[in-house]
Amino acid sequence: MDKFVIEGQRPLRGAVEISGSKNAALPILAAALLSTEPLVIKNVPDLWDVHTMLKILGALGVTSSKNPAGEITLNVADEKPDTAPYELVKTMRASFCVLGPLLARRKRARVSLPGGCVIGPRPVDLHLKGLKALGARIEIEDGYVVAEATQLKGTEIYLAGANGSSVLATANVVMAAVLAEGKTTIINAACEPEIHDLMQCLNNMGARISGVGTPIVTIQGVESLHGAVHDVIPDRIEGGTFLVAGAITNSSIEVKKCRPAHLAAVVDKMSQMGIHVEMAAASCRVIPSAEIRPADITTLPYPGFPTDLQAQFIALLALTHGISLVTERIFPDRFMHIAEMGRMGARIRKEGATAVIEGVQELRGAPVMASDLRASAALVLAGLAARGTSEIQRVYHIDRGYESIEKKLNALGARIERTKDEE
Ligand code: UD1
Repeated sequence: MDKFVIEGQRPLRGAVEISGSKNAALPILAAALLSTEPLVIKNVPDLWDVHTMLKILGALGVTSSKNPAGEITLNVADEKPDTAPYELVKTMRASFCVLGPLLARRKRARVSLPGGCVIGPRPVDLHLKGLKALGARIEIEDGYVVAEATQLKGTEIYLAGANGSSVLATANVVMAAVLAEGKTTIINAACEPEIHDLMQCLNNMGARISGVGTPIVTIQGVESLHGAVHDVIPDRIEGGTFLVAGAITNSSIEVKKCRPAHLAAVVDKMSQMGIHVEMAAASCRVIPSAEIRPADITTLPYPGFPTDLQAQFIALLALTHGISLVTERIFPDRFMHIAEMGRMGARIRKEGATAVIEGVQELRGAPVMASDLRASAALVLAGLAARGTSEIQRVYHIDRGYESIEKKLNALGARIERTKDEE
C-alpha cells in the first residue's frame, strides 16, 4: 500500500488545473448503458473510481477505449448481461447507479447492494422507492437488488429522505425514467452540478428532461437514446480542496479550469473567515490573509456547503484561532478524520453531529491513517501546514477521487513523496 510522506510548512504558489468531476463522470459513464450508439466522454478524470466503473461496465457488455486526449468512448457490445457483481460494487457506492439504466434498457438488473461505508450508514431506500414508483418489481436476493419491469411507466415521485435529496438516487431514477412510457416528475430531485451535468448528457443523447438543475424535474419518456459527445464539468470538490490548500499554507494559488459558480457556498464561507478569493470566469485565486477567523459551518445539499469539503475545512479551522463549529447534516457520522488530526495536535471534539474545533497555534507532523476519500485530503492539507514530517497511510483512498494530487501540490511547491508502506 502507498503512503505519502509530507514535509510541512513549505509555502505554495502558482496555478493548478482542476480535473473533470469524479461525481459527474461516474453516473455519466453508466449512462452509456442506455443506448447502443457510442457515447464519447471528454474530461474524464484518471481515477481508481473511474477504472472501477469501467470494469463494471465491462462486466455488463460495454467496451471502452481511451484516446491520447483522454476522451473515453463507450460502446454497448452485448446487452445480455444484467449483473453488477459484489466484488466490484462493494468498492464504490457510485456503481449502484447502473441499476436505473440497466432496468430501463434491459428490463432486468441484478446489482449488488453497495454495503457499509466508513462515513456512516448509506441506505438505498430512495433509489428503490423511485424505481418501484416507475413500476419495477424489486426483490433483495442474496445481497443483490433484483429489479424487473417489462415497461416502466412515468409517474410523480417525491424523492427525499430525512436528510433531504439524494444525488445518486436522483441519477438512478432519472436514468430509468428517460426510457419510461409517459411523463415522470421528480419532486425534490438533487440539484448538485454533477446531476445537472448528467441530465445535460442525457438530453444530448435525446432524452427530454426539463427543470434541469432545479428540485422539480420533468422527464418525458422517449423510445430510445442515441450516441453523443459530452464534456464533464470540472471537479468543484477538487477546486475547493486547492482553495483550502492555499488558505492553510498562507499561499496564493490560482485554481484554473474550475467553475467558480459551483463554489459559491465555499467562497462565501471563506470570505466570512477573512480569506480573500478572487473570482474570474473559469478560475479563482485564493489570496493569503493575515488573520483567519473561526467559522460556523453546516453541510447541506447543493447549493449549500458540500459535505465533501467538510473534512478539509476542519483541517483549516484546526489552525484558526478561536472556536469553530462544523455540523454535518448529510452524513452525521462523517468525522473519522477528527481523531487522526488529534494525533497532529488538533483540538477537536465531536458533540452529536457537530465538531467543536478549538484552533491551535501549530499542528505537528505525525503518522496518520486515511479513512475515506475526503478525510485523506484533509489529512494531506493538515500535513502541508504542520511542523515537521507527516506520514499518511492508506492513500489509496485519495487515489479513488483526486487525480495526481501529490504531483499537483508538488508543482505548487509542496514536498510530498509517495512511497510504499510496510503495512
Ligand atoms: C453523493 C456523492 C458523495 C457526496 C454525497 C452528498 C457520488 C458518487 N457521491 O453520494 O460524494 O458526499 O452525494 O453530497 O456522487 N439517503 C437515504 N436513502 C437513500 C439514499 C440516500 O436516506 O436511498 C441519505 C443519505 O444517507 C444521506 C443523504 O440521503 O444522508 C444524501 O446522500 P446521497 O445524496 O444519496 O449521497 P450519495 O448519492 O450516495
